[in-house]
Formats: sequence, C-alpha cells, structure tokens
Amino acid sequence: MAEVVIVPDREAAGALVAAEIASLIRRRPDAVLGLATGSTPLPVYEALPAALAGVDVSQVRGFALDEYVGLDPAHPESYRSVIRREVIDPLGLDPERIRVPDGSMNGIEHHGDDYDAAIAEAGGVDLQILGIGTDGHIGFNEPGSSFASRTRVKTLTQQTREDNARFFDSIDDVPLHTITQGLGTILEARHLVLLAFGAGKAEAVAGAVEGPVTSSLPGSAIQLHPHVTVVIDEAAAARLGGADYYRYAFAHKPEWQGL
Ligand code: F6R
Repeated sequence: MAEVVIVPDREAAGALVAAEIASLIRRRPDAVLGLATGSTPLPVYEALPAALAGVDVSQVRGFALDEYVGLDPAHPESYRSVIRREVIDPLGLDPERIRVPDGSMNGIEHHGDDYDAAIAEAGGVDLQILGIGTDGHIGFNEPGSSFASRTRVKTLTQQTREDNARFFDSIDDVPLHTITQGLGTILEARHLVLLAFGAGKAEAVAGAVEGPVTSSLPGSAIQLHPHVTVVIDEAAAARLGGADYYRYAFAHKPEWQGL
C-alpha cells in the first residue's frame, strides 16, 4: 500500500520531498527525475534550491509527464516553458538532459513511442513526482485510461480544461489534446511521489489510495506499485478512512527507511 504522509501545509510537503530528491541525487548524481507541472509540485520546486545547496546537479536527467498538443512551445504555459521556468533555470540543470514530450503536430503519431524509448534508454525514472486531477487523472490519463497505456495523445475532459483555464486567458485557449506518459509508463518509475493539497482533491485522493483499483479513477493505479509515497495536507486527507493509521505509521517509521 502507498505510504501516506499527512503534513500541515504545502511548504512542509515541499521540504519533505525536496529532501528526498536531494538525497537521491547525492547517492546517484545522474538520477532521472519525473517532473510534473501544474500547481501541485511548485512547493517542491521552490524548496529544491535550498535542499540542493552544495550538491552537483550537472548530471541530473529529467522527463516531464506531459505536454499540450499544438500549443506553441514558446507559449508561457506550454509545459516546456513551465519546466524551464520552474525547474531547469532555478536549479541550474542542464537543459539538454531534461526532456518534455514533443507536442508539435508534425509527426505527433510517433512522439509518444520516441519518448518512451528515451526514458528506457535513460534507464527509467528514479523518482516520479505526480499531482492528481479533481477527476482522478495522473499525468493526463483521464478516466478510462488503460493501466497498460504508454505515452500517447489523450483528449482532456471538460473538467480538466475548466481546472486548467486559470493558466490561460479563457477556457477556449486550453488545448483539447495533450501528449502524456501512459499509466503503464508511470508505473515503471522506481518511486512514485504523489502530492495533493486542498479540499478539492480529497475525493480523488481517497479514491486513488483507498478506492477500488479502476481505470475510472486512473490515480488508483498507484495501488499496483510497490513504492509509493502520497504527501498531502489535512484538507486533501479529509476523505481518507485510514488517516489515523497513516499518521501513526509515519510517526513510528523506522529511521533507516527514508521515504
Ligand atoms: C501535470 C499533470 C497533471 C496535474 C493535475 C493536477 O503535469 O500531469 O496530472 O498534476 O492536473 O494539477 P494541479 O497540480 O494544477 O492541481
């Protein structure tokens, strides 16, 4: 089962996950990070410069989870731009070592296979950061996505387009399609770290952690993975039946275990 860590706020979550990433990079300087976008991972990215002080990041590699299809890569909300702005530049990573799926229309039918091949060639993702959509998606694997799916083009639900309209001038500007790592791709990462904050995520979190494993709630795919850490605030934990046990287990966690 996923380890669930309930923290007081986003900052505490960011510090916890950033420390884990720093420890990974110290052990493995060419670690492969799986990078999410959206609001959720921002506290991690904000905490990383301090956590990585004095750590050599020149060899770190990374793969973003997803990208909008057909959006100009220079658009400030393309995930290529977001990863550059929130991760590569502040941490001083080598841009050549950080990849984002190619959302350009030219050859789009091959971009997913190319991306999966590049992840495999890198030896797989060591630590995959995940957010979760209010409809239960991870990456942009919307409800109904196959657990065996690979990186490919998906159509966003209207709910997700409404949720993401805040990044654009209007909902009409939110692209209809994305290219996203599949659930099968994500499940191959060695460690999944799913974060969620706020009451709006409580239902999706409860479904992902404690609900039936079903493609109707793609986040529930995490139950199939042997090493998952779910880091959430109290509001996002509100619908979890086992919250008291998760707090107890984390308070008594053997020190040698790490996250
Ligand atoms: C982003 C991604 C999505 C988001 C999810 C939550 O790369 O893959 O699954 O994590 O839509 O978005 P936020 O964090 O903005 O609530």
